[in-house]
Amino acid sequence: MEIYNVPEIARDVFWVGSKDWNRRMFDALVPLPQGTSYNAYLVKGKEKTALIDTVNPGFEKEFEEKINLVSSLEKLDYLIMNHAEPDHSSAIRYIMDRAPDSVLVTTDRGVKMASLYHDLPDTRIKVVAEGDSLELGGKTLHFIEAPWLHWPETMFTYLPEDEVLFPCDFFGAHTAQGVYDEDLEDLIPLAKRYYGEIMMPFGKMGAKALAKIKDLNIKIIAPSHGPIYKNPRRILEPYAKWTAGETENKALIVYVSMWGSTELMVRTIAETLLKEGIDVVMYDLAVSDTGDIARELVDSRAIILGAPTVLAGMHPLALYGTYLVKALNPPAKYGVILGSFGWGGGALKQAGEILVPSKMEVVGTLQVKGKPREEDLKKVEEIGRELAQKMRI
Ligand code: FEO
Repeated sequence: MEIYNVPEIARDVFWVGSKDWNRRMFDALVPLPQGTSYNAYLVKGKEKTALIDTVNPGFEKEFEEKINLVSSLEKLDYLIMNHAEPDHSSAIRYIMDRAPDSVLVTTDRGVKMASLYHDLPDTRIKVVAEGDSLELGGKTLHFIEAPWLHWPETMFTYLPEDEVLFPCDFFGAHTAQGVYDEDLEDLIPLAKRYYGEIMMPFGKMGAKALAKIKDLNIKIIAPSHGPIYKNPRRILEPYAKWTAGETENKALIVYVSMWGSTELMVRTIAETLLKEGIDVVMYDLAVSDTGDIARELVDSRAIILGAPTVLAGMHPLALYGTYLVKALNPPAKYGVILGSFGWGGGALKQAGEILVPSKMEVVGTLQVKGKPREEDLKKVEEIGRELAQKMRI
């Protein structure tokens, strides 16, 4: 049998998850430059044993062996499902088939979601609601409903005796590296990227969940992806800012350029903003990792889109980027749209149609035919100065 690392994160609480070092995409949408982990935890009480979440398809055997290193899967009593997405729930059937007396514990919404993926008889499901608890003998599992983090059914589980919070996806990071937060110096940028990709569309629900847990004593945060926080404040403090939509004096520029005209325009506005004392981050959508863009969306006060026209509309990469920005619901207050075309425009109108229903104020737009001339670049500079003035307020 392979010898696995099964760390005891608190007294009789074990990490029994899996590390997926080589996974490079999640949901066919989110790039994973450092892979990810599927964290699951075994909690041993004096009388009962509970498993909190499971693992991604393909890791079932390893999961079983890890559980058996510290307990007996056959004697498992409860399987807590904090979230029904298959990266955490897909091994439910595998586990429950091997633990004949085990019962799935989840919310009413969780039961409905689980029924979409698993075929479990009602006799093996226990429905819990906000504030319910489960006694394991010297250890209590307390349930906190935290919907939309990241699906409608999500909940947190809290273990008061050891002051451990199991928030599933919330507070996560996509990386296979490290066991504890102190192992990764650059963890918060990774967590920020994850927040932008996965949690930002539900920022208001995140703020509500933070309010629910604010009076809990929390010594350890054990999320379902990435390292376990022995220093909870390290992630609680940035989450308070991110869920509140606090922005920095920073402009995010995302653009595509076919022959350099749109690039000249965005570089001009970047220089103008820098002269005005505004931080700038710039990504060419043709070569950039969308996770980096998602990270910068979390606290950028302005977004500048550079989108050339091709085939009577936006360049497809700019269209994708614009759609993604809208869907991720960033807190940016201001927007600018710049672009160029050869014989017939269209990108600017299309970008405006996508972005106008968002809460961003579009401070300026400019579309030029061919290579930008000096007077065009002067207009770009004017837009940049106006944007800077608004951003400083
Ligand atoms: Fe990690 Fe929403 O699943």
